[in-house]
Amino acid sequence: MSRVIDPSSLRRYTAGVLEPWSPLLVSNRAPYEPGPGGRLRRGAGGVVTALLTVAEATGAPWVACARTPAERELAATGGPVDLGDMQRPIRLHYVASDSDRYRKFYSVIANPLIWFLQHYLWDLSREPLINARYWDAWEDGYVRVNHAVAERAVEVARELPRRPLILTQDYQLYLAPSRIRELLPQATLQQFIHIPWPTPHYWKVLPQQMRDAILTGLLANDVVGFQTNSDVRNFLVSVEELLGYRVDHRERAVIHHGRVVWARAYPISIDVPAMEQLSTTPAVEQEIAGLQQRRPEKLIVRVDRTDPAKNIVRGFLAYERLLRQRPEWRRRVQFYAFLQPSRQDITVYRDYLASVKATAERINRDLGELDWEPIRLEFGENLRRAVAAYCEYDVLLVNPIYDGMNLVAKEGALLNRRDGVLVLSENAGAHEELGPWAMTINPFDVDATADALHVSLGATQPTRRRLARLLREQVKTHDIGRWISLQVRDLHDLVYEQPSPAR
Ligand code: G6P
Repeated sequence: MSRVIDPSSLRRYTAGVLEPWSPLLVSNRAPYEPGPGGRLRRGAGGVVTALLTVAEATGAPWVACARTPAERELAATGGPVDLGDMQRPIRLHYVASDSDRYRKFYSVIANPLIWFLQHYLWDLSREPLINARYWDAWEDGYVRVNHAVAERAVEVARELPRRPLILTQDYQLYLAPSRIRELLPQATLQQFIHIPWPTPHYWKVLPQQMRDAILTGLLANDVVGFQTNSDVRNFLVSVEELLGYRVDHRERAVIHHGRVVWARAYPISIDVPAMEQLSTTPAVEQEIAGLQQRRPEKLIVRVDRTDPAKNIVRGFLAYERLLRQRPEWRRRVQFYAFLQPSRQDITVYRDYLASVKATAERINRDLGELDWEPIRLEFGENLRRAVAAYCEYDVLLVNPIYDGMNLVAKEGALLNRRDGVLVLSENAGAHEELGPWAMTINPFDVDATADALHVSLGATQPTRRRLARLLREQVKTHDIGRWISLQVRDLHDLVYEQPSPAR
């Protein structure tokens, strides 16, 4: 999928300040991947959405895991692969592990164990049941893939012209920085955690050896970035309570192996000019025309990966309640759920997708009429279609159980053309920023969500216009450029300016 971007808008944030460093991005998922027929398409999820902009603006190379047979084939060529558009290719360095090791890393430890833990998804009375299977997946999967990624990153970093600034992403790679630090003590290391950081109590679901390795792995960085202030607080308290370290809560810093490690919140965002430009392309206009032909008077939209954390089933149940309690909305509204199947090699994700389908089908069977389908459920990976849905909604439902940020809320708020209302979970990171102009819901409270849908659908035009304008302004002034510039500023002020024993 081609990307419309204006890297110059980002270069102004990084120019000069990043000069002492050569940045290098490290993540599990690559920004583009070979899709059906070998065509490259953009990878799923928030990390790729945000980091592509950084790579395009800075020209930073990228180290990522080869996750699929097609990616392993590309990796087998040995050298870096050029991805992205021809004007500004991204140099991708793959790390290929054998498929069973990768499965242990990705499908047993990273997802679901760590992802479920950090989104409070375990039903603790029954799961997780940590046994030899988990320990094997930890040692032979998570630890080894992390080390392989770290070693590849170090090889690439050694070729960079200036001092390496290694920007590691997310929970899949908690153990990479400590290995990088061993091999390249002078590098500047920053890791951004895109998902929530739970309380120390909840971390105790993991055995001490695992959780200590995660925490000390992260402390090998110079700066650890989180989505919200509450994640920063939880992280510092975790270091204090689980590792017994003394933490400076005012400075939001801790000393580990004689180095200062800073914890900071940088709410991630979207590339505003790129998204705006994309929304006016003929391809998107065509998608919008298609949607307009089919839509009834009101459209509720959701765009999500089929992840249990996204709370899709409760969203449908809330909508069902709305239709039952307030039959005046029947036939006048449709719920368009445009979903990306996610992590389908993991049983719990397959089961969840099945229950999403079953719930929508039952509601359509029970309440649908000959010429009215209450829920239009569509699966696919198509950014243009998602953008068309953003433009067309009257209500955008974003009701995750917990979510690091949720960029759908920001993309929707920016692009919507109908003064649509955002119904937003109080447990989405985006709520810290967008809450004042959204309809706040508790994601577990189905009745309250139904009420919020009702109020949003019926809101007066002046109210909708005011809320939509304020949301849009908030996103426009807090775009990805700001996310990057805050990090660059801190790297400069906290790491570069301050003498540390490592330099
Ligand atoms: C979230 C995570 C990312 C992940 C993405 C897609 O946004 O924070 O790290 O890449 O979901 O998930 P997947 O497992 O398909 O890469």
